Amino acid sequence: MTGLFITFEGGEGAGKSTQISLLAAHLNERGFQTLVTREPGGSVGAEAVRHVILSGAAEPYGAAMEALLFAAARSDHIDQLIRPALQDGVIVLCDRYIDSSRVYQGMSGQIDPLLMRSIERVAIDGLMPDLTIILDIPAVKGLERAVLRRGDVAADRYEKEAIAVHEARRQAFLKIAADEPQRCKVVAADQSIEIISTDIAALVDVLLEERQINA
Ligand code: TYD
Repeated sequence: MTGLFITFEGGEGAGKSTQISLLAAHLNERGFQTLVTREPGGSVGAEAVRHVILSGAAEPYGAAMEALLFAAARSDHIDQLIRPALQDGVIVLCDRYIDSSRVYQGMSGQIDPLLMRSIERVAIDGLMPDLTIILDIPAVKGLERAVLRRGDVAADRYEKEAIAVHEARRQAFLKIAADEPQRCKVVAADQSIEIISTDIAALVDVLLEERQINA
């Protein structure tokens, strides 16, 4: 594969989508081809599953079944969109990926960690991100932003949970970053949009240089 696979992670309201667009613009300006996508979703099949999960329709079946749904969506997304793009040399920017499953489903306390790892292995079939940007923001601030952004639209299944849950997820993302410092870079998200995007562009430019990937 000749492309580059970059994922964005973090809690609600961390500003992932804004930063993904800004990074795409930066890379396009440098002459790279990019594909912006998201999870759950990104492919036709996965978008259908997204609706089932985020509406809360799968909630009664329990955390393990939800984890399987996320994994099925991910597998379709990889096969239909991500791998073909990488094979064409495209830089893929994906809003959420395995770390969201590790944090959101993994922390539910209802799924055996070994089962989580097995589900992940089957879903991604070796496709680890080259770089994961973790946008870190205190849960209270992130939720404030998510509420402002949402306006009158109803909160989704995950936004509705208590602040303590969101803060625990934040710590879980930071733990992943500490465990996998090579792949994961933490960027403080309670700074100005410009500072955050400059930090991210610098991280990506260094990686492109290291891998000797040219436009
Ligand atoms: P989305 O509307 O895309 O929110 P955000 O802007 O926060 O990314 O909703 C996706 C939700 O799904 C989000 O709350 C995190 C959750 N999620 C999981 O629980 N597991 C996963 O594997 C993924 C990809 C997302």
